[in-house]
Parts: sequence; C-alpha cells; structure tokens
Amino acid sequence: IKSSAQSKLASSFVEGSFPRILTVFNSKTAELLSHHQVEIKQSFPKEGWVEEDPKEILQSVYECMERTCEKLTQLNIDISNIKAIGVTNQRETTLVWDKETGEPLYNAIVWLDLRTQSTVERLINKTPGRNKNHLKHKTGLPISTYFSAVKLRWLMDNVDEVHKAVVSHRAMFGTVDSWLIWCLTGGKSGGVHCTDVTNASRTMLFNIHTMDWDPELCKYFGIPMEILPRVRSSSEIYGLMKSGALSGIPISGCLGDQSAALVGQMCFQDGQAKNTYGTGCFLLRNTGVKPVMSEHGLLTTVAYKLGRDKPACYALEGSVAIAGAVVRWLQDNLGIIGSSEELEKLAASVGTSYGCYFVPAFSGLYAPYWEPSARGIICGLTQFTNKSHLAFAALEAVCFQTREILDAMNQDSGIPLTQLQVDGGMTSNKLLMQLQADILCIPVVKPSMPETTALGAAMAAGAAEGVSVWSLNPEDLSEVTSEKFEPQINPEESEFRYARWKKAVEKSMNWET
Ligand code: G3P
Repeated sequence: IKSSAQSKLASSFVEGSFPRILTVFNSKTAELLSHHQVEIKQSFPKEGWVEEDPKEILQSVYECMERTCEKLTQLNIDISNIKAIGVTNQRETTLVWDKETGEPLYNAIVWLDLRTQSTVERLINKTPGRNKNHLKHKTGLPISTYFSAVKLRWLMDNVDEVHKAVVSHRAMFGTVDSWLIWCLTGGKSGGVHCTDVTNASRTMLFNIHTMDWDPELCKYFGIPMEILPRVRSSSEIYGLMKSGALSGIPISGCLGDQSAALVGQMCFQDGQAKNTYGTGCFLLRNTGVKPVMSEHGLLTTVAYKLGRDKPACYALEGSVAIAGAVVRWLQDNLGIIGSSEELEKLAASVGTSYGCYFVPAFSGLYAPYWEPSARGIICGLTQFTNKSHLAFAALEAVCFQTREILDAMNQDSGIPLTQLQVDGGMTSNKLLMQLQADILCIPVVKPSMPETTALGAAMAAGAAEGVSVWSLNPEDLSEVTSEKFEPQINPEESEFRYARWKKAVEKSMNWET
C-alpha cells in the first residue's frame, strides 16, 4: 500500500489530489501483477497550510484493495496467494486520533505545511548561538517546519479536541503509516499502534542512536510519551488485516516512502544512492550501519531495519521540498499547461530557459539551506521570455536542486557518485532526465519498473514472511532493467548555468532585503 505521490501512474496530476495506490508484486520475480490508484484531495485552508482528510486516506486504501483484488481475479490470480502486505507513506505528515471513538481529531497536517514557521523561529532563537542544528546530535535533523514534532505541538496548542484527548489519555499520535496500520488491524477494537524506525526518525522525537523515543526530546517539545506509537523494525508482523478484501493477511512491512524506494532500488551497500522525484525530490545515500553526520546541510536518517534482529542501516538524505509540485503549480496556479506531459512538450519546444531561472522555494528552502523564510522567485526575464522558457526553467530547477544535494553528499562522503539511480513520477519525463544528466555531469539511470517505492515496501513485507526477493541478483529480476541518460553538454556550459542558479537561490533567500 503506497500512500505517497511518486507513482508514474500519478504523473498527470489532478488538481489538489494525490494518489494512494495498492500494487501487487510476484514474490519470486518482483514482477508487478496488478495495481489500483485512487486520488485523494489536499486542502489549503490558509496560505502555507496543507491538509488531508485521514478518513479519505483510509477509504482510498480500502477502495484500492477491493479494486486490485477484482483485477487479480480477472487475471485468474487467486487472492489467497497474497502472502503479506507492506505499507509505505509520505513521511512526517502528522495525525492525532481518539483511541476510544476511532475518530481523527483534526485533518492530517502534511509534511510541506508551513504553519509552524514562527514556532520554529522561536525555538531556534532560544538555542545557544541561534543554532538550527541544536538537536541534530540525537535526531540527525535540523529544527524545521518539516518534521512531525512541531506539527504535533501545534495540534495540541490549537485544536481543543486534541488538547482534551491528550489530557484525558485518549489521544494517539501517528504518521500516516501508524494511522493506516491501526485502522487496518482493528482500530478502536484492538488496532495495533505502531510505526517503524524510518518513519519514527522523521518526527524529531526519536533518537537515531538508541533507536527509541527520546524522553528529553519529548520534554523539549512538551509531548507526552504515552501518545506515541510503539517503534518496530521495518520488516516484521505488526498485525493482521481485520476486514476488507485482504482480511487475515499479515501487515509485515512498513517504511517511509524514501526508504522504501532505497530498498526497491536495491541500494543495500554502503555508498549506493537513489533520487526519487515525487512532490519533492529526495536523494538518499546508504551509509551502512553507522550514522554519518553531515557537515553540508544534509539529514542523517534511518534508512531501514529489515527485521527485529537485523541492524539498522542509515542514510544521508538531501530533501528538496518542491519538484513535482512545481508542475502542479504551473498547471493549477498559472494555467500554462494542462498536464505534466504538456510541460515536457512545451519545454522541449524551446530547449532552453533563455537565461530565465526559477527557484520554487514555495515552502522555504530545505536541504542544504534549511531556510524557511526563502520564497520562490523567477529572474532573468526579458521581453522575449515566454511560457515555454518558464516551463524549461521549472524543469531545470528540479535538476539544479538535485545538483546542490549531490554536491553536498559528495563533499560529506568524500567519494563522488559516478552515476545516479532515479525513480518516481517525474522520471517519465525524458527531457528532465536528460537535463539531470547534463547538469550533474554524470549518467542518470532509471529502472523500467517505476514502482520502486511500492516494491520496497512489498520486499520488506515479504522478508518477514520468508520471501526474500533481494537474495536474487538484481539482474535476474525480470522487471529490473534500466534506461541510461548520458551527459550531452560540456561541463563548462553546465557549470555556467549552475553558477547562475546559485545566484538566483541567493536572491530567493534575501528577497526582502
Ligand atoms: O518527506 C516527504 C516525503 O516522504 C514525501 O514524498 O512522495 O510527496 O514526494 P512525496
């Protein structure tokens, strides 16, 4: 079950909607057998606020199950052969519900949401030397609007129902994985309240060294520990499906979407990396069993822990808030394209931004800057600039942001990546992939099976049930073939454009002065 925005199937964005998908894989070959996708709405009640309806999320999952099972039956595949279910989700998105009524107490606050900006500024101002990395030694994260702790604090301070439920010991907190697993395993009649280490590591309440909730961090944010889910590995049986088409099947995999993509891309070795283009884009590099602290604005995060007795593996992560979201913005807010496919055509029709640079810092800037007050800018406009140049600049923006992350990662690790493995909805845009190779000056490699995030969750689930797809040689997996994009422009040209981009970023961070 993938509750995330990265699907290729989601490449044509519907206004304000994001897909929830159920995908079924063959456990021997990793072949995708069937899937179904349902779009759910996002709402924007105020500037910078982004919410989703928890019940709609759950309903979309049930609907995906019903429809996928029907499709499997039509393919003469017996659904009783389904061995295990894995859950993967957009991380950090924060929910609170009442364990007695089973009702959500507010909408889910989505990871991109900016409502906690003033809280974050206040917290940073209180640290010695205004240090946004004050909690990094425990969490691997800078203090930012991005992570769950500040969202949860906001809910406790601003939503009466949440406050009352916390005081009367009826509140449960979770990211989307926790909400789904609790509901799917029985909800108020005995549902399992848990999360996995990868999702927990995005809350700012989790100590990535002890691999548990940290009492000091909870105290810092004023969060009662009793509302937190139990932290489990990414691959073990959490509980059984209580109802619906897949009733009785174990849920045995759980990973945040970026970790799932890392697993689905088989990046199990120290030094292997992948970049996933969804709403945002997220480059994760496996650093093995040792957490590596970045000196260059990257996050240290838990990559996966594939079994209760298995060691946790860590990753360095470069998080970019806006990638696919810029396509939606051009479509929904400016109306210059009708679909993401149109964006590719429009940009390809000119093949250049004609000196136009577009920094889509709609939610501030994430890695490597962590600057919540940055705002989007478009610069270098002339009388000649038209919407095609703007479309090209938007695609280049995604590539430049990835270049900044890759540079930081290479500096942190000292070993430059020689090619980049990619996945996610935007990778169906061939122009984008070529531009990415040109701007990075290294080849970009894309698997032909785009659902690597869902595959990662399925692999984790299968592992707990004794089905280990990754013990196969990746080349043996029928669907894991790839397409390679080699750099085609000279490095000087690439450097020139990148230097201009950097200037535009400076302006987006100092646009008020
Ligand atoms: O951390 C946010 C990430 O998990 C969201 O992914 O699919 O919306 O780009 P996506």
